[in-house]
Amino acid sequence: MQKHTSVVAIYPGSFDPITTGHLDVIERGSRLFDRLIVSILHNESKSPLFSVEDRIEMLREAVSPFSNVEVDCFHGLLADYALTKKARVILRGIRAISDYENELQMALMNRRLQPGLETVFLLAGEAFSFISSRLVKEVISLGGNIAGLVPPLVEQRLRVRLHRPEKQT
Ligand code: PNS
Repeated sequence: MQKHTSVVAIYPGSFDPITTGHLDVIERGSRLFDRLIVSILHNESKSPLFSVEDRIEMLREAVSPFSNVEVDCFHGLLADYALTKKARVILRGIRAISDYENELQMALMNRRLQPGLETVFLLAGEAFSFISSRLVKEVISLGGNIAGLVPPLVEQRLRVRLHRPEKQT
């Protein structure tokens, strides 16, 4: 009988902040891999809204129902980080054809840097394919409703960060 070696996957991203679309990928990824590491890229040049510490906190709370999912952060090359984590798979979600070109480039570059490192793409669920962290931040900062687009804790944090208290009815 063939021995099953456990498959570690990394789901990298900016997660500034985590959306329900990310959470859908995490939930489905947690069923595919033995261990899933959701890892935030430390990249201040992107001028993130939330610090890495805040993003880690929000992610930890959001992934708490999944026992094989953990949260981490990394600097530098993803391919090098994957090696240190003994990960064989990079997990990414694809929402639309517009995501594809960039994702293809990244996947091929990562494979060149680390042959044997496979990128696995999950198609975003139909209900999530229009959601992005960037649009969520834009909508809430202009007073729009983002309920259901991000986990409740993230909505609260966005309201505080962007000075957008919940409207009283
Ligand atoms: O959520 P994002 O911003 O689309 O995530 C992009 C991310 C973090 C996956 C990508 O920028 C990345 O992997 N950066 C690490 C630097 C790196 O390894 N670059 C070269 C190979 S693509």
